[in-house]
Amino acid sequence: MIPGDGIGPEISQAVKEIFASAGAPVEWEDVDVTPVKGPDGVFRLPQKIFDSMAETRIGLKGPLATPIGKGHQSLNLALRKSFNLYANVRPCKSIEGFKTPYDDVNLITIRENTEGEYSGIEHKIVDGVVQSIKLITENASRRVAEYAFKYARENNRSTVTVVHKANIMRMSDGLFLKCCREVANKNKDIRFTESYLDTVCLNMVQDPTQFDVLVMPNLYGDILSDLCAGLIGGLGVTPSGNIGEDGAIFESVHGTAPDIAGQDKANPTALLLSAVMMLRHMGLGDYGRRIEKAALDTVKDGKVLTADLGGNATCSAYTKEICARVQNTP
Ligand SMILES: NC(=O)c1ccc[n+]([C@@H]2O[C@H](COP(=O)([O-])OP(=O)(O)OC[C@H]3O[C@@H](n4cnc5c(N)ncnc54)[C@H](O)[C@@H]3O)[C@@H](O)[C@H]2O)c1
Repeated sequence: MIPGDGIGPEISQAVKEIFASAGAPVEWEDVDVTPVKGPDGVFRLPQKIFDSMAETRIGLKGPLATPIGKGHQSLNLALRKSFNLYANVRPCKSIEGFKTPYDDVNLITIRENTEGEYSGIEHKIVDGVVQSIKLITENASRRVAEYAFKYARENNRSTVTVVHKANIMRMSDGLFLKCCREVANKNKDIRFTESYLDTVCLNMVQDPTQFDVLVMPNLYGDILSDLCAGLIGGLGVTPSGNIGEDGAIFESVHGTAPDIAGQDKANPTALLLSAVMMLRHMGLGDYGRRIEKAALDTVKDGKVLTADLGGNATCSAYTKEICARVQNTP
């Protein structure tokens, strides 16, 4: 467990309490990932996170504060790169009883997580001219495409749509698209469609229910997945998973919410639903199902809700309600 900053410690405590009420067989090991300065003066992730991940290969992460322009890399990015977490998976499903502009959204965005526009290769050519490299490799593109089809099959999904701009970025997005097509050819049991990013954005806000599984390069996934989260009630209820070859880290997608940190006002649902994804990944899906039901029933019932969901309950009261429900959920 990486509790994280801001509201992180409050919402991770809530998850631990709910897991305990559900009897989920998970022993937590808290790890602080504040960078430590090495003998060479460079800040790096502490050794404990590497030791812990080497042992368990699984983690749950609260939000981490990323100082803008302070010179050290985003910790989130560092974690993704260090553990080669190549696919970011975000289920976006309407919550019954929680009114949003659309009722039946049930889609998954799968974002390539290691390269593309986030390769971190940027340089100044001359004063006033900078260049940023979008790196696309066959390996990473094929790997995430294969994961999308595997995910679709394992989760009874019918269609994978590749989202791209290969009409403009002919080589980079062209390669991503080519890899997706090749993988699709080997997975004919799943329908495959191709769509331009701009068309997907238009169609998404007109009718998100038409989408199933979407796979795309890094930056498109970053933006589109937030847009999708907005369609189902915002970041406070959206979970995610970062899947790698040697491990996986599940995380809430919202930030540290400094405006409400330490005030017992945070909504732990996103981290809790990320923890439910983690349980499924660990083959403990039945605990996940019970916890998810207890949380979603609490929201549907509407009596004990945190402020972001339109209620006035504290994080502790909301957590207590879910704990009580999970004990009575068969
Ligand atoms: N994955 C991550 O670790 C991650 C993601 C985004 C931002 N951040 C970091 O978080 C910090 C703050 O970022 P920000 O203010 O742009 O975004 P934010 O998500 O922290 O907050 C945006 C708004 O949403 C509210 N909010 C967010 N999560 C909530 C929750 N669980 N319950 C109730 N309300 C919630 C906040 O109170 C705030 O009003 C920055 O340092 C940023 O870099 C981290």
